[in-house]
Amino acid sequence: MLDNRPTLPPEIARRRTFAIISHPDAGKTTLTEKFLLYGGAIQMAGQVRAKGEARRTRSDFMKMEQDRGISVSASAMSFDFKTFRFNLVDTPGHSDFSEDTYRTLTAVDAAVMVVDGAKGVESQTQKLFEVCRMRDLPILTFCNKMDRESRDTFDIIDEIQQNLAIDVTPASWPIGRGRDFIGTYDLLRDQLELMDRADRNKVSGSIKINGLDDPALAEHVPAELLEVFLEEIEMAKELLPKMDHQALLDGTMTPIWFGSAINSFGVQELMQGIADFGPEPQPQRAEPRFLAPEELKVAGFVFKVQANMDPKHRDRVAFVRLASGHFKRGMKLTHVRSKKQMAISNPVLFLAADRELAEEAWAGDIIGIPNHGQLRIGDTLTEGETLRVTGIPSFAPELLQSVRAGDPLKAKHLEKALMQFAEEGAAKVFKPMIGSGFIVGVVGALQFEVLASRIELEYGLPVRMEPSQFTSARWVSGPQAKVDAFAQANKQHMARDNDDDIVFLTRLQWDIDRVARDYPDVALTATKEMM
Ligand code: G4P
Repeated sequence: MLDNRPTLPPEIARRRTFAIISHPDAGKTTLTEKFLLYGGAIQMAGQVRAKGEARRTRSDFMKMEQDRGISVSASAMSFDFKTFRFNLVDTPGHSDFSEDTYRTLTAVDAAVMVVDGAKGVESQTQKLFEVCRMRDLPILTFCNKMDRESRDTFDIIDEIQQNLAIDVTPASWPIGRGRDFIGTYDLLRDQLELMDRADRNKVSGSIKINGLDDPALAEHVPAELLEVFLEEIEMAKELLPKMDHQALLDGTMTPIWFGSAINSFGVQELMQGIADFGPEPQPQRAEPRFLAPEELKVAGFVFKVQANMDPKHRDRVAFVRLASGHFKRGMKLTHVRSKKQMAISNPVLFLAADRELAEEAWAGDIIGIPNHGQLRIGDTLTEGETLRVTGIPSFAPELLQSVRAGDPLKAKHLEKALMQFAEEGAAKVFKPMIGSGFIVGVVGALQFEVLASRIELEYGLPVRMEPSQFTSARWVSGPQAKVDAFAQANKQHMARDNDDDIVFLTRLQWDIDRVARDYPDVALTATKEMM
C-alpha cells in the first residue's frame, strides 16, 4: 500500500484487527470462544454461544445493552493476548448479507479463514475469500476439527492453493489423523504440541524439540505415526513454499495451522501467528490523501450501523474503525459529510475483559457510537480535516420488490422505517419518480423476509411486498443536462435512492445496453461509493 512505513507507536503497533471467515459449521463460534477464553475475556467456554443468562452476564457491563436489551458486543470484541490487543470483528454469517460482509472487511487488517479438515474449502469460504482478495487482505488459515476423520493434509493444502489461487505454507503439521491424531509439529518453533483429549479447555504443554532429527520426537510420537509424519514433512519441504512474511502481507500466501478448536488445540499457536504476522493497523485509503495510523489526529469511518432492536428507541450504534490517532472519550469530532461537530461522549468500547467502559481507543480499534441517525455507513469522522475514507461501496441490488403499507394511511411511517433500514445498509430503498410506494432492493432473498418482519415488529406496520417489474438498479452519472434529459425521457425507469441519488431501474440487460447505445454521455454503474 504505502512503502517505507514508519515504526508505529507501541499502543498502535500492538493492535491486531481481524475477522474470521468460514463456511457455517466449520467452527467459527467455537474458535471465537477459545480466543476469548485465552484473551481472558470469558472464564468458561460456551458463553459466546450461550443464549440468555450466560450471554447477558458477559455483556451486561454495557449500560446501553442493559437498558435497551440489545447486544452489540458480538459485532466487535476486544481482548488481550500476551502484549497484544486483538480486535475481532464479526462477519455476518449468512451468504445473503454479502454486502454487509464486504463492508465489515473494510474495517479489518487481516482475516482468519477457518476450514473444516474433512470438508476443505466450502462455498461460503470461497465467496468470503474472494471478498478478502478484492482488498488484498492478509489471510491466516486454521484447519479445524483435526480430532475427527480428516482429509489428507496435502489434499487440503492443494485444494486451498487450487481453489483460492493462493500459496499455502504450513505453520504446523498434523501427526496422525482422526482417532490417531495426537497433535502437531510447530514448524515455526520446532516444537511438538500434543493434544489433551481429556480436558477441552486445557492446553497441553509444548515439548521443545531440536529439529526433526531430535531423538526426543520418538519418545513422544508412536513409531508408525512418526514414520508417516517424517515422510510427509520431507515432501512438504520439497513441494510447499516457505513462509514469506511479505507475501502474507500482500495476500498472496497464507500460513496454515492445524488444530481442533473444541479441544482448544492449535488455537494459541494461531493467536501467536496473528500476533507475529499481523499485520498491525494499516493505512486507510481516503480522499484526498491516505490516512496513516500513526497520525496524531483522530480519524475514523463508519463501516456498519446497527439499529436498536427496541421499538421504543430509535437510536442506533454506528461502528467506527479508528484509522488514526488516539481517541479519548468526550472528544469532539467533525462529521465530515455534514461538517457538524459531534461530541463523542458515550462511545461503546467492546472490551470484554475489563467489564467497564474504556476511556480511550487507538488507531485499529473499533468503537460504537450511539446516535440518532446522523452517522451513516461510509461516513468519516476527523478532528476537523475534510477527508473521506474511500472504498466502502454500495452494490446494486440483485433482487427488487415493491413495498406498500398494509394501511395506506401509514405510508409516511413506512417511508421512515424503510429509510432507517437503508441507513443500516439492510436494504436499498428506491422511490420511483412515477407513482406511489417504494421499491426495496436486496442482495439475497432472505433479506426481504427479515425486512418485512422487522418493519412489522419494530414499527408495528404490516407491509405488503410484491414482485417488481424491475430486476436491478444502476446509479446514473454524467453531465447534469444529459442526465436530466435522460431521466425525462425514461421516467418510468427512474427513481431516487435513499441518499436522493438518481437511479435507473432495469428489467433486462437489454435496458442497460440500450442506454449505453442511445446515451453515450450517461454512465450507469453497479456500485456506488458510500459518502
Ligand atoms: P460455526 O460458528 O462456524 O457455524 O461453527 P461452530 O463453532 O458452531 O461449530 C459447528 C459444530 O462443530 C459444533 O457442533 C461444534 O461443537 C463443532 N466443532 C467445532 N470445533 C470442533 C473441533 O475441533 N472438533 C470437533 N469434532 N467438532 C468441532 P454442533 O454439534 O453443531 O454443536 P454443539 O452441540 O457442539 O454446540
